[in-house]
Amino acid sequence: MKKSITVLEGDGIGPEVIREAIKVLDSITCRYSHRFTYHYHLIGAAAIDACGQPLPEATIQSCYDTDAVLLGAIGDPKFDNDPSAPVRPEQGLLSLRKNLQLYANIRPIQLYPELEALSPLKKEKLNGTDMIIIRELTGGIYFGKKEKGPDNSFASDICYYTRQEIEQITEKAFHFACNRNKKLTLVDKANVLETSRLWRHIAQEKAQQFPDVQVDYLFVDNAAMQLILHPQQFDVLLTENMFGDILSDEASVLSGSLGLLPSSSLGKDTALFEPVHGSYPQVAGKNIANPIGAILSAAMLLEHFDLKEEAAEVRLAVRHVIRSGIVTQDLNREVFYGTNQVGNAVSSYILNKETADYNFQNIRLGQSTII
Ligand code: IPM
Ligand code: MN
Repeated sequence: MKKSITVLEGDGIGPEVIREAIKVLDSITCRYSHRFTYHYHLIGAAAIDACGQPLPEATIQSCYDTDAVLLGAIGDPKFDNDPSAPVRPEQGLLSLRKNLQLYANIRPIQLYPELEALSPLKKEKLNGTDMIIIRELTGGIYFGKKEKGPDNSFASDICYYTRQEIEQITEKAFHFACNRNKKLTLVDKANVLETSRLWRHIAQEKAQQFPDVQVDYLFVDNAAMQLILHPQQFDVLLTENMFGDILSDEASVLSGSLGLLPSSSLGKDTALFEPVHGSYPQVAGKNIANPIGAILSAAMLLEHFDLKEEAAEVRLAVRHVIRSGIVTQDLNREVFYGTNQVGNAVSSYILNKETADYNFQNIRLGQSTII
């Protein structure tokens, strides 16, 4: 299969985790004789530094012209503490999502038995947790009208949703639920917000078309609590943009580290794949960052190309590597490996399972035989 992929490394640890994801994709293309071409472009702070804007035209064009987008991370602290900065790195990601109409952000939360001890929750609370969070990504308070009064006298961000925006993502969420455990939880704040009442209304309408799916409704404050009290109760959790941003970070740590989680953003045009974690500038360039979130995002990209076996192979390799203890320091503070060594181990397992364990020993000795 021939495919073209736009690669947006972005800021902070973005480039180093993406390097490992590409390494893993390369071992897949090598093993299965596919041909992927990669088109590297700038986004975020890296793009602002290079050309003054967070989403250059060439970047958008490449995203339209290619079959998928693989993104690292966006954000630089030099912009965070300057509320009056005229351009911000995050605008790059937000307008990319809007341009590509990536309205559905899929964040699967899965556990690794070997990492159970790292979870902030006790084992018995965690058992059986397996959910996906579907976050609306191109509407709500993120994209509503923004205003600031003279001399900082007031500011406002409007939360706005159209019926069509809610319908398209609700429909998608029901389809996901149908292919999973047939349980959908809509998270909102319908006791306070008009937009949430519209979400609930539309979800109730849609539910008629999916009689097999059990639908629950939870207020977001309660959902935040339920996620850490009884995470097993969730199958597909559907929510609007801002609530989804917050809840998916909360849910991500259930598996032990935010660094493990992948995501896909689906819509009308090219789909985008990115780890859930941010740019983590404190450790950028230090070969410390966990590349698993980026590698599993590459697995979601393979699945999107309908390369199911290849995607399963990446996930299997990741499990094997975690089980073998080749992990970054967020997962083991005493015995840990570099970002590149984790990527090497995953890629080595994909290329040759028989020799992989031998390579792992070399990695353990700090003498990787793989480039
Ligand atoms: C995310 C990030 C983004 C968001 C930022 C970088 C704009 O936190 O993808 O979750 O808030 O959507
Ligand atoms: Mn976020």
